[in-house]
Amino acid sequence: MSARKIIIDTDPGQDDAVAILLALGSPEEIDLLGITAVAGNVPLALTQKNARIICEVAGRPEVKVHAGCDAPLERPLVTAEHVHGGSGLDGPELFDPSMPLAEQHGVDFIIDTLRAEPSGSVTLCPLGPLTNIAAAFRRAPDIIDRVQEIVLMGGAYFEVGNITPAAEFNIYVDPEAAQEVLHAGVPVTMMPLDVTHKALTTRARVEAFRNLGSRVGNFTAEMLDFFERFDVEKYGSEGGPLHDPCVIAYLIRPELFSGRRVNVEVEVSSPLTLGMTVADWWGVTDRPANALFIGDLDADGFFALLTERLARL
Ligand code: BDR
Ligand code: CA
Repeated sequence: MSARKIIIDTDPGQDDAVAILLALGSPEEIDLLGITAVAGNVPLALTQKNARIICEVAGRPEVKVHAGCDAPLERPLVTAEHVHGGSGLDGPELFDPSMPLAEQHGVDFIIDTLRAEPSGSVTLCPLGPLTNIAAAFRRAPDIIDRVQEIVLMGGAYFEVGNITPAAEFNIYVDPEAAQEVLHAGVPVTMMPLDVTHKALTTRARVEAFRNLGSRVGNFTAEMLDFFERFDVEKYGSEGGPLHDPCVIAYLIRPELFSGRRVNVEVEVSSPLTLGMTVADWWGVTDRPANALFIGDLDADGFFALLTERLARL
């Protein structure tokens, strides 16, 4: 089978960074057409820079990194430095990347790529707020039918929220964008907190990255040393949740994951529950299913895959 063409839309973020590394370490399954950065965990100036840092750490400076939207569609930006640190990528020693930022705006790159590639051959992988994707769909509705699938990290249901009691961060930051993407008619697979909170960086798993003895292994371990402290303190868990790599792992090994096709709606007006993803898990409405909502994963298999693929870089 030929490698699946994807665009990663991202707001790095340590877990976004590991997702990018997983994609770059998996050329048999993943053909990364480009990366589009979006404002989210930190402002756009940092997310686009962090995406380039990751590509350079992976030894892949030729990857195209485009800067997309610097604010949500209809709201001021909310960021998450309290989780990711001031740089968004705190932990390892960071540097100014020498690879250039691509000139084209990220939203235009998404539009042009979907128009240029055969219809149904490109998968979108959003790992941050859905602003760039929704902006592309608003500006060029003709591309919507050309998307093969959207596999995204976002949302929460049984696990409830992480940025508010009801909402997960990526959806909360741009709820209008999320609701539009979920109703665009494209097949959507969601990795909500329900599954990502089972992908925990235990000490042994972080040490397995460090023991790779490579630049990528050390960089990853140093990022995760920093990243896990927030969730360990908050949840008393064994480590931090590797949210975003679940998206890429699903493309490579879907059998590691299980979920249910359900209707998912995003709350866009209530101040109390803004950004909540209301998943009709028990089918108590007649609203049609619009997403495969993932709820479980084989965590050991997931970390084995990550370690194996990062070892290739
Ligand atoms: C999501 O929010 C960000 O902090 C992470 O990178 C992940 O995409 C988890 O809620
Ligand atoms: Ca992210």
